[in-house]
Amino acid sequence: MTLTSDTFEWVATLVRARSAIQLGPGKEYLVESRLLPLARAAGMPGVDAYVSKIRNGRDTVGERAVVEALTTNETSWFRDNSPFIALRAHLLPELMAVRNRPVHLKFWSAACSTGQEPYSLAMTLLDVLPPTVTFEILATDLSEKVLDRARTGKYSQLEINRGLPAPLMVRHFTRVGAEWQVSADLRSRVTFRPHNLLDTPPPGRFDVIFLRNVLIYFDLPTKQQILRRMASVLSPEGSLMLGAAETTIGVDAGWDRVPVGAASVYRPSRAAPAGSPAVPSQSARPGAATGALAASSVSALGIRAGAVR
Ligand SMILES: C[S@@+](CC[C@H](N)C(=O)[O-])C[C@H]1O[C@@H](n2cnc3c(N)ncnc32)[C@H](O)[C@@H]1O
Repeated sequence: MTLTSDTFEWVATLVRARSAIQLGPGKEYLVESRLLPLARAAGMPGVDAYVSKIRNGRDTVGERAVVEALTTNETSWFRDNSPFIALRAHLLPELMAVRNRPVHLKFWSAACSTGQEPYSLAMTLLDVLPPTVTFEILATDLSEKVLDRARTGKYSQLEINRGLPAPLMVRHFTRVGAEWQVSADLRSRVTFRPHNLLDTPPPGRFDVIFLRNVLIYFDLPTKQQILRRMASVLSPEGSLMLGAAETTIGVDAGWDRVPVGAASVYRPSRAAPAGSPAVPSQSARPGAATGALAASSVSALGIRAGAVR
């Protein structure tokens, strides 16, 4: 370990200010291992020297590289699967049942990493929505590096193996050398844009927001602030999807957790506005998003229900 506590503190403060990611004591090894490749690429002998150069030179490009290197971009196709099944079997039929024609749906994959999440969403929508229903998917992340990768739509065999069903691979990807390329059609369905969750959300109202596996990196006030912002851009019938290990419970009492099939979605509470102080537990809204409405909508609207795979 070559990292001094001064270097660690400076990096932790920078990363917290720019992204809200918390690097508490014990994360020195993470900082060192993430920054060492950057230090080597810059021809520096170690992380301390690399950070000092950025720090003393007020190098904003270098600062950005440090922040991006400290993001964790772990993702996979149809991650956790149940949110995609819930979408297909319940949420989309419900949305289409309550909307005036022509139906246009808006989705936001916030903190989308290298694109597997929004492309999984696009594949699901293309599979289940009738052609009369149009949709747009906005996919955002703090990291320009992951967005560049997402836009190219090229994935290694190892990445493809992480959750992409073979029929969907055949339908939407072509092999280019050692990689798999997302089809131009699928790519055209997703707009990738930089966005920091600490900033004002993108304009408009979204019917479904995916905010998965990112709140875990933030402290409580940041989670509360972000959840309040999400509530402000969710359509009245909209749903927020969090990661399997994430919840609004104990964070912000302004949300109801609604069971939808094997998944849970979150909707602004009618009883308490978003931003209400957290309570230890929160009752789910029974009866919401039930299979009854979904089942009738499925047949009435010509949607193919069933598993994603
Ligand atoms: C673990 S990935 C989650 C990817 C995807 N949502 C999923 O569940 O598979 C977390 C992503 O959050 C992004 N991130 C971290 N802090 C952020 C912030 N303040 N604003 C926007 N994105 C952020 C990271 O760059 C990273 O790509």
